[in-house]
Amino acid sequence: MAVKGTGGSALYDVIGTGYARVRRPDPRIARQIHQALGAAATVLNVGAGAGSYEPTDRHVIAVEPSTAMVRQRPPGSALALRATAEELPFADGRFEAAMALLTVHHWSDPTIGLAELRRVTRGPIVVLTFDHAWHADQWLVAEYLPSMVTLDAQMPGPSVIAEALGGALIEVLSVPHDCTDGFCHAWWRRPDAYLDPMVRASISGIARLPGPVVDEAMARLASDLANGRWHQTHQNLLEREEIDAGYRLVIAH
Ligand SMILES: C[S@@+](CC[C@H](N)C(=O)[O-])C[C@H]1O[C@@H](n2cnc3c(N)ncnc32)[C@H](O)[C@@H]1O
Repeated sequence: MAVKGTGGSALYDVIGTGYARVRRPDPRIARQIHQALGAAATVLNVGAGAGSYEPTDRHVIAVEPSTAMVRQRPPGSALALRATAEELPFADGRFEAAMALLTVHHWSDPTIGLAELRRVTRGPIVVLTFDHAWHADQWLVAEYLPSMVTLDAQMPGPSVIAEALGGALIEVLSVPHDCTDGFCHAWWRRPDAYLDPMVRASISGIARLPGPVVDEAMARLASDLANGRWHQTHQNLLEREEIDAGYRLVIAH
């Protein structure tokens, strides 16, 4: 089955400039990803961005098409090649494992990109993605930015990615309340964070929406926070340490 994506390295040249300041890897999430990579000594990171979650105890090669993202890779991080998932410049079976984190939905052709990952990898392929239905149920989307659902509908979900990889385990990746990595639902218990334009700029699902739609939603959120309505409605969340916000690790062997 062909898997559709939204096409997006140019997007990251525009929205990606402050990415590394907001998207700081979370150690708990890192543990789960690194465990999924197994004992692999050579790892390919596709759509690597600023290098989040690249293991430091293995030989990593990164593939990233956006210059703005490559520039944010910390000194000493793995070699990053300017290439795309759809055309990986490597021989068959070159890597023992591969990872593709929060990137597949940006590829212009995920079917080809996932086949390329399979071609160059001998062992586990670890994809971090999200389940659209869970995503749509999160308060940020359900109550403030429902137009994100339309964009999500065009993106491949976990089971579609698993099928494209020839079968995979799908694991829940829970989001701790104090997650250091500012992806879309990372701030589920810290709603004020969404009022910060820099936080929103690092969330592609928000950055893609028309400005007036986001402005209206943020004005409403600011008002609900000021008058206590948000806290009243989400009392149950304030007691939670972590939630399943729909993030999934697809692990193919
Ligand atoms: C949300 S960022 C994720 C970056 C990193 N994996 C992380 O988790 O922090 C998505 C990345 O996918 C990259 N990307 C977009 N289209 C791509 C393609 N066709 N092939 C490889 N990477 C692509 C973007 O440039 C961007 O750096």
